[in-house]
Amino acid sequence: MAYDSNTMYNAGNILQGMSRISEPEIAEVLHMSEDVQRFRVLMMKYECAISEVRTKLEVLNRDMSIKNERNPFESIKSRLKTPTSIHDKLMRRGLPLSYDSIVENLTDIAGVRVICSFVDDIYSLADCLVAQDDIRVIRRKDYLKEPKENGYRSLHLIIEVPVFLSEDKEWMTVEVQFRTIAMDFWASLEHKMKYKKEIRNLESVSEEMRYAAELINQLDHRMTQIREKIDYV
Ligand code: GTP
Ligand code: MG
Repeated sequence: MAYDSNTMYNAGNILQGMSRISEPEIAEVLHMSEDVQRFRVLMMKYECAISEVRTKLEVLNRDMSIKNERNPFESIKSRLKTPTSIHDKLMRRGLPLSYDSIVENLTDIAGVRVICSFVDDIYSLADCLVAQDDIRVIRRKDYLKEPKENGYRSLHLIIEVPVFLSEDKEWMTVEVQFRTIAMDFWASLEHKMKYKKEIRNLESVSEEMRYAAELINQLDHRMTQIREKIDYV
């Protein structure tokens, strides 16, 4: 499922997805007829974890926008992995198709994407988020400092947040990706390219994408320099 583009204040919209997925779909796609109810509860917890992370980021956005006189992010998108994507990823990695395998192996069932205007806002926001005492950082991948071979840039965090339920508290894993507007534009096109079966001149298109990624990097830095000049006045 693609990341939906709910903007900042419609976090409520995400709480409708998985609870609506039909039992046959879960049973069929994931071959887990006995665990359907358990799976639904699991997805509900991931949805709640997404909500929590979105709320945390929105609070930071309000606080930092007063201090810095600009919003640290432009928009937040989020998505819950569908049963089909869960199935495909486990198969691709040669992992068992079971409830336990999903919980143990997949760290991106809950995904939040934060789109910022400026690179320094990415780091400020991410630092503030991980400094909170109810956030556990599981993994951090900085593809801004070390871009991927194809030119991909973003900051990825795998975190755990506590979800408070009626009877207990559970730590749920969420993947948070931070990138600039321009990097997001690039990643969308690159994603499309990956899913297109036959691209003519794949080598030269890939080269153009690498070049575009470099231009985007320069543009992002130039925009920061201009902003600093404006702020300084
Ligand atoms: P996945 O199995 O894809 O989740 O990768 P991973 O476990 O190695 O983690 P990584 O942090 O590298 O990537 C996680 C997610 O980042 C992906 O699912 C994509 O959403 C995004 N991503 C990573 N690399 C690329 C890329 O080259 N292009 C695009 N468009 N997105 C990427
Ligand atoms: Mg993924």
